[in-house]
Amino acid sequence: MWSGKRVLLGVSGSIAAYKAADILRRLMERGAEVRVVMTRNAARFVSPMTFAALSGRPVLADEFSDSGWGAMGHVSVTEGIDVVLVAPATANSIAKAATGIADDALSTALAAAACPVIMAPAMNDRMYGNPIARRNREILAQAGFRFVEPDEGLLACGVQGQGRLASTERILDAVAAVLSSSGTLAGRHILVTAGPTREPIDAVRFISNPSTGKMGFALARVARQRGARVTLVAGPTSLDAPQGTDLVSVTTAAEMRTAVLSRAASSDAVIMAAAVSDFRPSHAVDHKIRKEEAGTSIELDRTADILLEAGARKGTTLLVGFSAETGDIVDRAREKLRRKNLDLIVANEIGQPGKGFGADTNSAILIDRDGSMLELPLMNKSDLAGRILDVVQQLLQRKG
Ligand SMILES: Cc1cc2nc3c(=O)[nH]c(=O)nc-3n(C[C@H](O)[C@H](O)[C@H](O)COP(=O)(O)O)c2cc1C
Repeated sequence: MWSGKRVLLGVSGSIAAYKAADILRRLMERGAEVRVVMTRNAARFVSPMTFAALSGRPVLADEFSDSGWGAMGHVSVTEGIDVVLVAPATANSIAKAATGIADDALSTALAAAACPVIMAPAMNDRMYGNPIARRNREILAQAGFRFVEPDEGLLACGVQGQGRLASTERILDAVAAVLSSSGTLAGRHILVTAGPTREPIDAVRFISNPSTGKMGFALARVARQRGARVTLVAGPTSLDAPQGTDLVSVTTAAEMRTAVLSRAASSDAVIMAAAVSDFRPSHAVDHKIRKEEAGTSIELDRTADILLEAGARKGTTLLVGFSAETGDIVDRAREKLRRKNLDLIVANEIGQPGKGFGADTNSAILIDRDGSMLELPLMNKSDLAGRILDVVQQLLQRKG
């Protein structure tokens, strides 16, 4: 995905320095060439050898000793770099960058870099909230630096607060946002639906399903990483929208219908991964029904079939549906593809361990209008999203 892209990973002296090893691996898994530059203090937390072994390249940790990057290593290490990512970024390294100090390998390389810089701070919450540290970040933001805000949670110092290094996923999203301007889906607008819908019975009760939105969010994330402009229409989930995507939060099937149909025509592809409720209570009330006054049956109406409607009026938009079934999934998926006028259907079996609702992994069978079938074995949902988008990309190219 990022082959040919060069990332300079800067590591500074935070307790979170060990997490940079995982970030390095994840960047490499996506095909990026990664060079690592470290502060002297970072090398007290994790040995440069770890990063050298993982990256397969010399690590610049001391600008005055021969690191393998030549006598002017602090400059040559930045040559041809597409993005610098400093993760974790200490209060000290941020302060030095904000004032232009260049007194170690990382700060000197930062001074010499001529490309976008992303910083992912990690520190104690009081250090993060310190007004001077805050001002330093503002100075850098004004100079075009991007920040991946730290998470709230239990910090290494034992207190609860904002300062934990952001998740690797969020950091990679930020890298993707920088690299994506030349991605394989650059210039495309992709609308993805995700999660369940909720159909109210009364003020506190509803009909829903166990969808967590993981598949749709993975599709949105990977499409964004490949450079697409992504609109994510999501029902209630606990997931954070991938950075750089345009989130439209909905609750009911009717709201999802409006959100999708009003945007479908201006999208190159609509991928409907949401588990939309097929039924809704006929008479929802806006107060809580008291147990004593409630009957024992609920009258239901069918909700609108959003996929069917989108298929009927789809024009040139590529339409992708999901079919989560038990039993004969291929025949059911083929029938649904024809009846709903889809271009591609992703059929998967639910009710199996490691597959479907809530799981981190899934397998699928992709069927297109020509009847071509692609069977994808069990894999994590991000990888599956990538494979689905490979096919979407081919179909979009065929359409021209
Ligand atoms: C155990 C330990 C953990 C530390 N963790 C952090 C941290 O997470 N964030 C931070 O900004 N500083 C942290 N510090 C302080 C920095 O290491 C210190 O400010 C250092 O000068 C940073 O150097 P550098 O920015 O050149 O790597 C820590 C220090 C120690 C001893």
